[in-house]
Amino acid sequence: MTPMAPKCGVEIFGVSLAKCSDEEMDAIKQAIYEHGVAIFRGQDFSPESHITFGKRWGGIDVNNYFPLTEDYDEIAVVKKDPDQQTNIGGAWHTDHSYDQIPAMGSVLVARHLPPRGGDTMWAHMGAAYDALPDELKQACEGLEAFHTADHVYKEGGLYAQTDMGKSLRGQDMKTGAVHPVVIRHPHTGRKLLYVNSAFTIHFVGQTREESLPLLQKLFAAALTSDNQCRLQWKPGTVAIWDNRTTWHNAMNDYQGHYREMHRITLSGEALAA
Ligand code: SIN
Repeated sequence: MTPMAPKCGVEIFGVSLAKCSDEEMDAIKQAIYEHGVAIFRGQDFSPESHITFGKRWGGIDVNNYFPLTEDYDEIAVVKKDPDQQTNIGGAWHTDHSYDQIPAMGSVLVARHLPPRGGDTMWAHMGAAYDALPDELKQACEGLEAFHTADHVYKEGGLYAQTDMGKSLRGQDMKTGAVHPVVIRHPHTGRKLLYVNSAFTIHFVGQTREESLPLLQKLFAAALTSDNQCRLQWKPGTVAIWDNRTTWHNAMNDYQGHYREMHRITLSGEALAA
């Protein structure tokens, strides 16, 4: 296992995800809970293996918005056509924080890559919390925040105003969830900053306007020079990340080229402070 960056991400060698033993699976889970994201190269990972792996982990939480593969309802397609300008996930966010029981994590498989670009970045929210100045840690104490995806995916929402709008499903869905601003990781117990600029709207008991000054300070403080890692995808690369522990951001720097990834989101548990 090699770190991808000082405080985020590891590359794991010598494991076939399609055939890993229960002991290997437990070690993979532990590595991802701690480091936020793990990268596996050279994987022979068919759609069937992808689904089997997700079920073995603990269950699949199908995304309501992304198109699904023609043959498998469990697999969401994250794709951008050569003539599209907008990509999916091209801003810092954490998947499904708008659900009251958010997806634990995601398993992303490279299916078609552009000749260059299209990297993905992650940022570790445990390291982000640790690095917060004391006054920000105190300001977060006992706070809860409201998350939704409605402004992003609904009819007339952010994606609908772009050339990605027509590719998405679920425009009539309504989402909303309340989570502590600082959660404890359900398995490691580590404190994690759990707000993100894509889906966190306001603190409970405060308006959006009242919440924005602190929210913006937290969003800015969450990205430090040493809590991020960046993955350059290759054919056969699989990334698995923990949505509680990380934010991620898909780079949109390959205009004119096709990129297709397959994503399974893993079922999670309720979050607590
Ligand atoms: C996402 O899950 O947000 C997309 C990540 C990527 O396409 O690299």
